[in-house]
Amino acid sequence: MVNTLPKPGIKTPSKETILTPRFYTTDFETAANLDLSAQDTELQAMLAEMRADYNRHHFVRDEEFEKSWEHIEGEARKSFIDYLERSCISEFSGFLLFKELSRKLKNRSPLLAEMFQLMARDEARHAGFLNKAMGDFKLSLDLATVTKTRTYTFFPIEWVIYTVYLSEKIGYWRYIIIFRHLEKHPENQFYPIFRYFESWCQDENRHGDIFKALLRSQPQLWKTWKARLWSRFFLLSVFATHTMTVHERAGFYKSLGLNATEFDRQVVENTNETAGRAFPVMLNTEHPQFFPRLQRCAGYNVQITEIERSSLPKFVKLIRKLPLIAAIVWNLLLVFLITPIDTEALRGTVR
Ligand SMILES: [Fe+2]
Ligand SMILES: [Fe+2]
Repeated sequence: MVNTLPKPGIKTPSKETILTPRFYTTDFETAANLDLSAQDTELQAMLAEMRADYNRHHFVRDEEFEKSWEHIEGEARKSFIDYLERSCISEFSGFLLFKELSRKLKNRSPLLAEMFQLMARDEARHAGFLNKAMGDFKLSLDLATVTKTRTYTFFPIEWVIYTVYLSEKIGYWRYIIIFRHLEKHPENQFYPIFRYFESWCQDENRHGDIFKALLRSQPQLWKTWKARLWSRFFLLSVFATHTMTVHERAGFYKSLGLNATEFDRQVVENTNETAGRAFPVMLNTEHPQFFPRLQRCAGYNVQITEIERSSLPKFVKLIRKLPLIAAIVWNLLLVFLITPIDTEALRGTVR
């Protein structure tokens, strides 16, 4: 008999907003026809690394997890569960996309098919590990249901390459910065998952490098004026999302002894630097208006969240939110217009 009753301990996924991690689908036909010859050496090297599977034995829960976590309560508990859920969904979203790419490319592009299968392997481990952590808080996500009920956003393969590259690299920096901070301040390590972040982030770094090779194999993704515009656009959208999310969850970072604004700045600056090695431009994060405007957006976003949570009628909520949304769009537009740094020209002078 099929049990249709909601199971105890299964968390209803939080409402999807513009900031929640998305699920993607793409044009598999174009993906299968990508000419990768320009980066063949790099891709073969990455494939060898992925096959080596350095983290094969890493994601095993040790005895430290077996404690009771009931002492983490109130706001700290809530914001930590939020963090776990968001991370789990985002890892799982990577898994689904990579798995699907691997399946669709199987007979067309064996190199890519294997690469995506190995990346899906890593993301499944990451998502599973996070879901088990949620289990320690008596909650878990029913990922099979999530797969069916979420909306999938279509991205052309070019956009997938830009955004997945960025999300892997920003993921790397998030994990490593938290890890290094807790190495210095072990008193803030309130749960053992953070100890796993050092090797974990190396998976994300490798995934990012694979996407860098894909990007550089396609001259239209870095050689043209269009590529510059798209790069600016995706860099800014990833950074803006990061700034807003981090400030929305300032409580979680505080519980780790981190200042949300400082953490966000470090992650964005480092990711931007890294992206400069793959993208034709990077953003000028040192411009005096860069971070202040992003942080202003984060403030407006916090106000929007408060309006959303209030019991006001829908119409009133909308009226109150509109000027805030307009202010975010306006500030982001001004940041977008800050002259970026031409990384191709830099490459010319360094080498
Ligand atoms: Fe991951
Ligand atoms: Fe990844």
